[in-house]
Amino acid sequence: MTEHLTFGTLRIAFDDRVLRPREWTTAQSTWAADLLGTVPAGPVLELCAGAGHIGLLAVVGSGRRLVCVDASEAACEFARANARAAGVADSVEVRHSRLEEALARDELFPLVIADPPWVPAADTGRFPEDPLTAIDGGGDGLDIARACLAVIAGHLLPGGSALLQLGTAAQATALAAESPLSGGDLTVVEVREHERGVLVRIDRVSAG
Ligand SMILES: C[S@@+](CC[C@H](N)C(=O)[O-])C[C@H]1O[C@@H](n2cnc3c(N)ncnc32)[C@H](O)[C@@H]1O
Repeated sequence: MTEHLTFGTLRIAFDDRVLRPREWTTAQSTWAADLLGTVPAGPVLELCAGAGHIGLLAVVGSGRRLVCVDASEAACEFARANARAAGVADSVEVRHSRLEEALARDELFPLVIADPPWVPAADTGRFPEDPLTAIDGGGDGLDIARACLAVIAGHLLPGGSALLQLGTAAQATALAAESPLSGGDLTVVEVREHERGVLVRIDRVSAG
């Protein structure tokens, strides 16, 4: 059965095939909206978009295009419906695809929002109400986050930023020690800790 809730200024539809929108994640939208004031021109990419609410709330009123990617067909249908309800359907493209295969080689984005599953596989039983594919991040919880980082490394414009959601500051520290965040031109510039998760800002240094 379709439910609705208020997410920031938006009315969001979802059902039990997708993750129930979490109120605290409006913080990811707000931070992304702030960054839109300074990053280069171009469309926003949202990986693991689910019902699309985080990306939609970030771009609404900005005039930016939004490309939402999710492997769940149900999530993509809700993202399209939620874009229509927000009045931005013409500027939102929803791609039903695994994120590893969703983009053409030459697509570049000034801002990437990513909300991968981050629960370690052994702990997913603690969240029986959540769809497994929305929360299962593999052995250490970081499998899909690593895939998001590979997309960010390949598709973030110089001078651009990515906002990656993880479960804990320890996960952020672990990822920061790995390629492509260690030793390349992507840098973790800030980690914001919230009660139910963390947000990691990753920047690509400007060219020249
Ligand atoms: C933690 S949920 C986040 C959904 C939404 N952003 C929210 O706040 O409710 C993770 C999402 O990632 C999607 N997902 C998992 N693995 C994926 C992959 N390899 N490619 C694309 N989407 C994936 C799931 O279908 C799910 O919608």
